Amino acid sequence: MAHVKSPLHGGNIYDAARALDCDPGKIIDFSASINPLGPSPHVWRAIASSRNLLGHYPDPDCRDLRRALATFWRMDPDQIVVGNGSTELIDALPRALKIHRLLVVQPTFSEYASAMGRSGGETTALYAERTNHYAIPVDRLWRVMETGRNEGRSFDGVVLCHPNSPTGQACTADDLIQLAKVAHRRGLWLIVDESFADYCSEKAVLPSLSSWPYVVVLRSMTKFYALPGLRVGYAVSARTTAERLRRQLPPWSVSVMGQVAALAALNDKTHARKSLKFMTQERERFRTRLAALPGCTVLPTHANYCFVELPRGQHARALAEHLRGKGLLIRDCSSVPGANSRSIRLAVRTRSENDRLLRELSRLLPDRGSR
Ligand SMILES: Cc1ncc(COP(=O)(O)O)c(C=O)c1O
Repeated sequence: MAHVKSPLHGGNIYDAARALDCDPGKIIDFSASINPLGPSPHVWRAIASSRNLLGHYPDPDCRDLRRALATFWRMDPDQIVVGNGSTELIDALPRALKIHRLLVVQPTFSEYASAMGRSGGETTALYAERTNHYAIPVDRLWRVMETGRNEGRSFDGVVLCHPNSPTGQACTADDLIQLAKVAHRRGLWLIVDESFADYCSEKAVLPSLSSWPYVVVLRSMTKFYALPGLRVGYAVSARTTAERLRRQLPPWSVSVMGQVAALAALNDKTHARKSLKFMTQERERFRTRLAALPGCTVLPTHANYCFVELPRGQHARALAEHLRGKGLLIRDCSSVPGANSRSIRLAVRTRSENDRLLRELSRLLPDRGSR
């Protein structure tokens, strides 16, 4: 079977398990960043008690879920569009908003450019600087949006991943509002992908952002709510924008169980609090241990993963391949535009899983004092 060298996305435990001839459940996945505490226990109960619905189509309008999300965010349910993961919404947005050239801030999630390619559009890139810890270049972005041109070419939309994947960097709520203002003034679409924002402290930004007419905010039930297998994400925007997006989606794209589980997960505030508390503590511990590995540079992070630059002489792809052979999946970021060949992203998992990875890494990265 053909071997996939540098996968576009993390989380393919199936390929890894096939290569090792083991059960997919045996793979420890640091490549997709999912809440290590797993889904809320309410999710299992909700799924079990809804099994009679499997013989029916799902609610095509996701009414109960949209109503719950609207209450959660204190907004109108008509501002919310639910999709089969935020990936489906990323795919539909260029068509829905008629975006022809999208400005992306690299290094970032590859689906924005892929979606533009599928819709016949193009991307243009602004690069966060490695020497500046890949901080989101808000001032440069603002200036480029003010002119509507990047590298001499115009663009009609901007996507900002916040916090950014793979670098974990975030800006302030005020920065985002300034960007929303310039988008409004210049008639540019601003898509803010907040798939990992549940781990950010500035949560209140979504309701104020989504009231701007040219802004779409994306959220995912995949990461914090740990439901990657059920595929649920949503977009929040002005009502007219939401209607344009809804028209681009196929009917019934969100399954019965996806809707039921997302609703149960959203309503479990106790599990959410526990998950946040765990992540805040373990992320710091993991990050400190990673930073103590010889020659590794670890960026501060606002998400549930750490962006690490390996020591000189190491290659992210070789390391990822090696660890894969041991049943540990990490995200090789060497092919992400703007990141170098030593870049990896590591999800923060349970304490014992993180320790297992740390042991492997300390064996693999020789103490040469090089940086
Ligand atoms: C930044 C970012 N946005 C969106 C997604 C897609 O998430 P989902 O389709 O599972 O909601 C991912 C997946 O890895 C991601 O990293």
